[in-house]
Amino acid sequence: ANLHFLAETDSTNTQAERLLAEGEHTPFVVVAGRQTAGRGRRGREWFSQDPGNLTLSLALRPQLPPARMQTFTLWMGLSTSLAINELCGVSLKVKWPNDLHWNGKKVAGMLTEARSDSEMLRDLVFGIGLNVNGVTDEYPPEVRRVAGSLREAVGRVFDLNETAAKLICALQKACDTFLEDCYRETFREQWPLHDALTGQEVTVSLADGEIVGEYLGIDETGTLRLRLPDGQERQFAAGDVTLR
Ligand code: BTN
Repeated sequence: ANLHFLAETDSTNTQAERLLAEGEHTPFVVVAGRQTAGRGRRGREWFSQDPGNLTLSLALRPQLPPARMQTFTLWMGLSTSLAINELCGVSLKVKWPNDLHWNGKKVAGMLTEARSDSEMLRDLVFGIGLNVNGVTDEYPPEVRRVAGSLREAVGRVFDLNETAAKLICALQKACDTFLEDCYRETFREQWPLHDALTGQEVTVSLADGEIVGEYLGIDETGTLRLRLPDGQERQFAAGDVTLR
């Protein structure tokens, strides 16, 4: 894949979207040293002022139905976790739908965005912010409360270029195995070992309220399954999850 390295951009996802719109050949990767308008899910901001962390996006034009996006993101997250485990022995948990956690702290966030017509995804951008050497004590209070970094997890400083290279390589491989549809066995095997929510009581926050239940896992479309207090099962395609 072509690599676009920028010292600074607004958001690597936005930059990738612009390049896609200009007809840039896919797949390609946009890496930025700093983002001035890093985006998270649901219009939130992604704190991107620490040069010790990584922010990057991978752009594709996949021939996939839009319903596959959820599993795609979970698979990319799981693959990132496996790659990081190989790099430094830390096992990051994947927290549905788009976080990587260590010890309850968010070490990475993912944001997959796509343009699609009714049948097919067209331009797809997978963005990930990975806190590598970040010292989260120095972050704004609302970020500090939830954020962690690899450095804090392992107790050493990482070579950022090496980490970026390993991550990009792992993401490209993960993407290929997804598009070739040969990820399922590894996913089934590894997901339960890296699922942050296994066996937990969780709260799902939706636009119109909160629902509490016992986490039952995800189905093959990446939908979250919950057992409600009345014993009924309910499924969620979207939402924010907090542990109780
Ligand atoms: C979230 O936790 O809500 C998702 C955060 C995603 C952040 C990454 S950083 C690289 C890419 N560019 C962005 O503007 N956002 C994603």
